Amino acid sequence: MFTVKIYGAGSIGNHLTYACRSKGWDVLICDIDAAALERTREDIYPSRYGGWDPEIRLATVDNLPDEDFDLIIIGTPPDHHLNLAKKVLKTRPPKVLLIEKPLCTPSLEGAQEIVELQEASGAFVAVGYNHTLTENTNRAAQILAGQTIGKPLTISAKFREHWGGIFAAHPWLNGPQDTYLGFLERGGGASGEHSHAINIWQHFAHLAGMGRIVEVSAMLDMVNDGKIRYDRICLANVRTEAGYVGDIAQDVVTEPAQKAVRIQGSNGYLEWFVNYDDGHDAVCYFDGRTTVKQELIAKTRPDDFKGEIEHVESILIDGASENSPISLERGLDTMMVILAVHLSHEHRKTVRINYELGYQLESIEIV
Ligand SMILES: NC(=O)c1ccc[n+]([C@@H]2O[C@H](COP(=O)([O-])OP(=O)(O)OC[C@H]3O[C@@H](n4cnc5c(N)ncnc54)[C@H](O)[C@@H]3O)[C@@H](O)[C@H]2O)c1
Repeated sequence: MFTVKIYGAGSIGNHLTYACRSKGWDVLICDIDAAALERTREDIYPSRYGGWDPEIRLATVDNLPDEDFDLIIIGTPPDHHLNLAKKVLKTRPPKVLLIEKPLCTPSLEGAQEIVELQEASGAFVAVGYNHTLTENTNRAAQILAGQTIGKPLTISAKFREHWGGIFAAHPWLNGPQDTYLGFLERGGGASGEHSHAINIWQHFAHLAGMGRIVEVSAMLDMVNDGKIRYDRICLANVRTEAGYVGDIAQDVVTEPAQKAVRIQGSNGYLEWFVNYDDGHDAVCYFDGRTTVKQELIAKTRPDDFKGEIEHVESILIDGASENSPISLERGLDTMMVILAVHLSHEHRKTVRINYELGYQLESIEIV
């Protein structure tokens, strides 16, 4: 049995608590806000999972017990991620530190230091892009590896979802102004909140041997009323180091949601869907000769986090995995594209990412 401490008794804190408890692990949730802990016990957890689990310990951050943990999860708003991560890695590093997505704010301030602290502490730092570890992604990876679609030529990814669903899951919030979501600088807006699309594009690009994204040309639709300031639509055209071109779309306005990837190959195509219909993810593929195959994968919301926690379990048991799709480096690569998107939009220019210079603002060149 592993011991887990989770920072943040909000939506993701509850999802990941349930995933860890389903493994039989010992979970402590902490929050700066005592009302959030009470809401978890009285409302969020029982309404999602059918009842409160009295084995879960709850504490405010100033009443934390003096204990080591195997796994620490940071499930707070993005602008708190790196400060908490630094504190954890400098004081009592766990075996695995899982930080929710997006890893940080688009300024990337403090990001490079986390790379150094990971090295110094010996902890494995992961970033919560859970869609890289779900069943539909595993199946799509097998189809790609089998060369069913021939040579992959281009990837198109979208996470377009009206954020009414997020607010429905947070009835104590009146709208984006009440949280980081309405503030681009805090990691909100479509570019940060739906960065699963950038990340899954990068994941499939890795699997297809296309390399990292080095060029970005982006356009945002900004909402700015003097109080809130965020991108409600974020569109990016990208080019990889091997010269492949593709596109990524994220927004907080599309209803019903579209969460999908299409990979066009030299012979056929592969499509990947989240919530293809009520209760299923899916993959569809065509080899260019026979018929289009469709595979429905039954799933519930808790299944979105099952593969991620199983992956964390394998790291806790066997040690760091070389090619983890949720490694710190992968999460940082996604942050570099988010930063590039903002700079491209601001300058109305294509921008280039130079990874050699580290994870910082200066690594983006306006061309
Ligand atoms: N992977 C996914 O599918 C997924 C789903 C939902 C949320 N998320 C991510 O999880 C993060 C949190 O989102 P959420 O919807 O759960 O937010 P939320 O507002 O529901 O909960 C965040 C909680 O963190 C607490 N908090 C803030 N600062 C803290 C600190 N320093 N220490 C301890 N607690 C602190 C707040 O009081 C709040 O209760 C975001 O980065 C979001 O993008 C990911």
